[in-house]
Amino acid sequence: NEKSLVLGIETSCDETSAAVVQDGHILLSNVISSQMEVHRRFGGVVPEVASRRHVERITMVIQEALDRAEVTQEDLSAVAVTQGPGLVGALLIGVSAAKALSFAAGLPLVGVHHIAGHIYAGHLVKPLRFPLVALVASGGHTELIYMPSHNRFERLGRTRDDAAGEAFDKVARVLELPYPGGPHIDRLAKKGNPTLDLPRAWLEPDSLDFSFSGLKSAVINLLHNARQRGESVDAADLAASFQESVVEVLVEKAIRAVREKDVEELVLAGGVSANSGLRNELSRRCQQEGIRLRIPPLELCTDNAAMIASAGTYRHLERQYAGYDLNAVPNLPL
Ligand code: KG4
Ligand code: ZN
Repeated sequence: NEKSLVLGIETSCDETSAAVVQDGHILLSNVISSQMEVHRRFGGVVPEVASRRHVERITMVIQEALDRAEVTQEDLSAVAVTQGPGLVGALLIGVSAAKALSFAAGLPLVGVHHIAGHIYAGHLVKPLRFPLVALVASGGHTELIYMPSHNRFERLGRTRDDAAGEAFDKVARVLELPYPGGPHIDRLAKKGNPTLDLPRAWLEPDSLDFSFSGLKSAVINLLHNARQRGESVDAADLAASFQESVVEVLVEKAIRAVREKDVEELVLAGGVSANSGLRNELSRRCQQEGIRLRIPPLELCTDNAAMIASAGTYRHLERQYAGYDLNAVPNLPL
């Protein structure tokens, strides 16, 4: 029963990351090189700029991950890489690096779904207990996933338009707050009261899908109408009202998914899990309903390679290997 040592590589968006994980859940290193500062002045991630940055950083980041874990290529059991979803040019850098390493060191190659990775962030703190439901909310995704066991995923719902984080960023932009706007809205919301009437997109009665684009339009209209009437809108109250609307729908549907699947554990992941309103409300409801809530630390909730190495380990254990024809898939299904 030899121990497994998996190197993870993640380049799907604007973080260049590599990590080493032992036996699927022991974090040995997790190196994250963020490009946030580069993209900030554009008000969003510029795909071409992201790809170039990944090319510049990837080799050093991988070496650093091996060094910090105090292992060499020869010690590894497999290389796991994010195959999708994400920006195709950005994904390709990680996939190419993983293939090169796999070929050079004679290691099996594993392609990992980015959302599967986000869920495994929780596994790095304390082993996941199946069956479970996961809510993954980030700048690119808003998904409810059911997992009966390791490596098995069933999508219960997803956003039909904007991701939750994207909605935060777009509303922040309307309020002339810096990018990424989520943390700024969060801070501003604490100073206001949710007094403004904004919609909640429940969709069909039994749907676990989300929709946030209508909410963004409602915020824009509200500001526009007030301006035309020569009235001012309190930005803090608007932030609080907007956040409440997003949180209410996320929490309600996550709890409903847990009930429908009759599971005891709910995992929250993705950058939006940093939101204090979401954390508070979800904690309160889970306590009330007797649901075990798992929220990984923030550095594991945002994009990182440790979660990819962890998820990849369970594919490695099932020998679900990729060939050298492994390709980046921007809209990879789970
Ligand atoms: O997971 P992440 O770092 O990157 C991906 O999108 O994959 O998530 C970033 C998103 C951004 O949209 C950001 O505004 C949002 O998470 N975010 C927040 C908060 N912190 C980050 N949204 C609401 N409240 C926060 N405190
Ligand atoms: Zn992500």
